[in-house]
Amino acid sequence: METPIVILNFKTYTESTGKRALELAGACQEVADETGVNIAVAPQHMDLQPVAEAVDIPVLAQHIDPIDAGGHTGGVLAECALEAGAAGTLINHSEKRMKLADIENVISRTRKLNMASVVCTNNVSTTAAAAALKPDFVAVEPPELIGSGIPVSKAEPEVITGSVSAVQDINPDVSVLCGAGISTGEDMRAALDLGAEGVLLASGIILAESPRDALLDLVSKV
Ligand code: G3P
Repeated sequence: METPIVILNFKTYTESTGKRALELAGACQEVADETGVNIAVAPQHMDLQPVAEAVDIPVLAQHIDPIDAGGHTGGVLAECALEAGAAGTLINHSEKRMKLADIENVISRTRKLNMASVVCTNNVSTTAAAAALKPDFVAVEPPELIGSGIPVSKAEPEVITGSVSAVQDINPDVSVLCGAGISTGEDMRAALDLGAEGVLLASGIILAESPRDALLDLVSKV
């Protein structure tokens, strides 16, 4: 198996906003350098460019809209995210759901711009549907476990194994990540043992007393 992937979604926590986004991304960079684990960060849009300028690890947008350049006030243009330093984007996060046609539209925009696409899904069926759209990654996250501290890898292991097997059948080139409630090395190990190639997570690291120590623990069993 290749080196596992960790994507830290900064969401809109105060603890991961502005200067604290820079500090948190710096901690991610240090842990990635020390451990060799692939760590990427997804800061808020306003923080994306300063974070991308400060670290070498991949920086992802939290969302991109299915829009062309022009009259879309308030929209997030893929080309703007790219120019700001985004190496890819989350798509259809549970907190930013999209229509199927719009998901496909954004995947295809990212492909043209050589940006990585990470489509979030909520169960095995939507994972299968997302895999058919050929993103680079799907990240399955049961919404009821998000921010709960109860890890998907323990509470709903069948969602991970089912997603891995559905993706194998539909498009084995798509990598499967999982998330929701993941915070410790044990949670991540369990996710990898169930067939996931990595994790997408937030609160367990961002709200920890020491995010750096929490990250070191997260990757301690990979
Ligand atoms: O995008 C990550 C996510 O929704 C999981 O959040 O706080 O349960 O790790 P959390």
